[in-house]
Amino acid sequence: MTNLPSSTRTIPEVTPVPRHIAVIMDGNGRWAKQRFMPRVMGHQRGVETLREVVKTCRDLGVEYLTVFAFSSENWRRPADEVSFLMSLFIKVLEREARRLQRENVRLKIIGDRNRFDDELKKCMLDAEQLTAANTGLTFTVAANYGGRWDVMHAVQSMLQHHPELALTFTEEDLHPYLSMSDAPEPDLFIRTGGEQRISNFMLWQLAYTELYFTDTLWPAFDRAELEKAVASYQRRERRFGRTSEQVQGMTGKGVAGA
Ligand code: FPP
Repeated sequence: MTNLPSSTRTIPEVTPVPRHIAVIMDGNGRWAKQRFMPRVMGHQRGVETLREVVKTCRDLGVEYLTVFAFSSENWRRPADEVSFLMSLFIKVLEREARRLQRENVRLKIIGDRNRFDDELKKCMLDAEQLTAANTGLTFTVAANYGGRWDVMHAVQSMLQHHPELALTFTEEDLHPYLSMSDAPEPDLFIRTGGEQRISNFMLWQLAYTELYFTDTLWPAFDRAELEKAVASYQRRERRFGRTSEQVQGMTGKGVAGA
């Protein structure tokens, strides 16, 4: 397993285009409500936005895109909305897998799959297997995922394999057991829909990620909106705990747009 640089143990390389973007796609329900449509129509439109965002990430040279499609807390939604989302996931995975394959995108799904029905589990596995050898963008969908679940699950798996580490384990020992162990930590986190919170998404990996919040509702988040988020990222000074003077002294090393 790979052990990628950790933002708390080393200083990751800062590139003008974020290598990894993480997204909370919020605002589907409100987008639909504003148009007097049922909430689920917003999710349907949200899939089209996602397709465009995948394309734009490929064009910009982003290497990893990770989106929050369904949180471990989303089961609390009305039963008919949950069931619509489950059928939508199946439909989208069946329909889009071949497109992702053509576009050289590798699809990965993270989260606890145990609660999904067999049909959805099969679609997930089929889509992952079909695209497993692709070398372009890695597109990760978080489904029945929670940041705390991920850390707890990683600790349990690590101790199952290495009970002797119980009292002595380090960040490096734990890292391979986290869901996103094969990706660098996100450089840029985007949340649409006006709320300013992390909502239990990638708690471990967002330690030093640049956060970007926009009022734009997810179905309206187009290419120009994504470019605006990347431009905002490029103006940030990424210090990773250092002073601004230290970063400035290393011309081009700390400012994302440099
Ligand atoms: C949040 O908006 C959105 C979701 C919980 C679902 C997002 C899912 C998709 C866009 C489908 C993706 C499909 C695949 C297979 C990757 P909200 O309903 O919370 O909106 P609101 O805040 O306006 O109510």
